[in-house]
Amino acid sequence: MTAQRVCALSELEQDSAIRVEVDGVAIAVVMDSAGDVHAIGDTCTHGDISLAEGFVDGDSLECWAHGSAFSLSTGKPLNLPAYEPVPVFAVTIDGDDVLIDPAVTKPTS
Ligand code: FES
Repeated sequence: MTAQRVCALSELEQDSAIRVEVDGVAIAVVMDSAGDVHAIGDTCTHGDISLAEGFVDGDSLECWAHGSAFSLSTGKPLNLPAYEPVPVFAVTIDGDDVLIDPAVTKPTS
């Protein structure tokens, strides 16, 4: 599988997230306050909630339902009630294109 274009870089706003789907995999694409783009699994591991509907705070994306924040770098939850990590995907920026291969995840440890 190869990386696929999921959105334009210009569609992303700092400190916000959008939900995309690649080959049936729901992914939250996040631009942090520094302008760096991250991609993590979109489904909160505590419940069936889209993390892209949550809040970006520094290096984390917080689920709006019960407040677990997930690291954009490792996918690990930083606080309860979630305790399982979400996957973190490699992001490639090519001009104005944001590319993600859902088969390529980064280690969460
Ligand atoms: S559903 Fe996300 S913290 Fe509960």
